Amino acid sequence: MKFFIDSADIEEIRKAKSYGIVDGVTTNPSLLAKMEKGRDETVKDILSESDWPVSIEVISTDTEGMLKEAYEIAKLRGNAVVKIPMTLEGLAATKELSSKGIRTNVTLVFSANQALLAAKAGASYVSPFVGRLDDRGEDGMQLIRDIVQIYQNYGLETEVLVASIRSEEHVLQAALAGAHVSTVPMKVLENLAKHELTDAGLEKFLEDWKNRKK
Ligand code: G3P
Repeated sequence: MKFFIDSADIEEIRKAKSYGIVDGVTTNPSLLAKMEKGRDETVKDILSESDWPVSIEVISTDTEGMLKEAYEIAKLRGNAVVKIPMTLEGLAATKELSSKGIRTNVTLVFSANQALLAAKAGASYVSPFVGRLDDRGEDGMQLIRDIVQIYQNYGLETEVLVASIRSEEHVLQAALAGAHVSTVPMKVLENLAKHELTDAGLEKFLEDWKNRKK
């Protein structure tokens, strides 16, 4: 499974990159809005940090506006992936962009039917938001299992990019479901590597080594 860092903070992205296990970046307008430097400069920094795929979301909600922005984003750097909201207008934009070979990530997906349409439109990635479904008492991970099954049924090549991940359990369940990518906040990424028994075992090894008979 690929791991993307879900962040617009270039310092956080650089730190995640240093771990050697991150394969890409996803951003969204809320994450970019927090950045001091502003969207354009932040986006350019993130795109030039590595050749990995970086999802940048359009702001327009009409097809024509989405396409205008999408072509501008795609021109920024070859690793730009255009993030498009899962609406009928977004599907039309995704269809055109995929026919032109421009990579897309259809986002704000909350049902398997939406994911099916996104794949039909030729999306490179689909981003189902598991945490926000859990927030309203639904089973976000069941959506992932359903999408993976449907894509396998029809040999669809769109990659399932699990988003709105809030815990290591989400990552575990995404991997068990066969999702292609998990995009995770930094806290979750770092917690994936941690276990109390690892810490205790390492401490004991070092203590025993320090107290060895010389
Ligand atoms: O990439 C989508 C992700 O940033 C949304 O996460 O926690 O706001 O639902 P969250």
